[in-house]
Amino acid sequence: MNSENIIDLLNRLLEAELMAVEYYTIHADAIAEPEIAEGVKAIIPAEVSHAVNLAERIKQLGGAPVGSDGEASRKGREMGERSKLDGALAMLRLELTQEQLAIKAYAEPVADILHDMVTLEMLEEQLFDEMRHAKWLKQRILELEAKAP
Ligand SMILES: [Fe+2]
Ligand SMILES: [Fe+2]
Repeated sequence: MNSENIIDLLNRLLEAELMAVEYYTIHADAIAEPEIAEGVKAIIPAEVSHAVNLAERIKQLGGAPVGSDGEASRKGREMGERSKLDGALAMLRLELTQEQLAIKAYAEPVADILHDMVTLEMLEEQLFDEMRHAKWLKQRILELEAKAP
């Protein structure tokens, strides 16, 4: 993978992180169950720092990170607003789907990158965060499904 490919890849990951910040923020305010809302709220700083780390690394590699108030943020807000009308379970399912996509999107470069240990280590750490987020969401979804009539 050359550095131009890595910059493109980091920008795609950055777009997903910018989206995540928006729908998690909207969901944290919209979820009625206080414990679930708190847990969702606790994920937001991790996604913000993922976005910051990716943007920093893109700049270090000589690239231009996508803006934090562009198309990705708009799309994330739209996802959040649309899904918040359907209740906590629907919101958590959307979040889980996105975390699952993020895990897969991080895992491929983690497997492939050979010549850039700095980027590799950042992506590894962020992959672990997404795995933890996905697991937490799965646990909450199972609980809500068990309670549903
Ligand atoms: Fe993230
Ligand atoms: Fe996440």
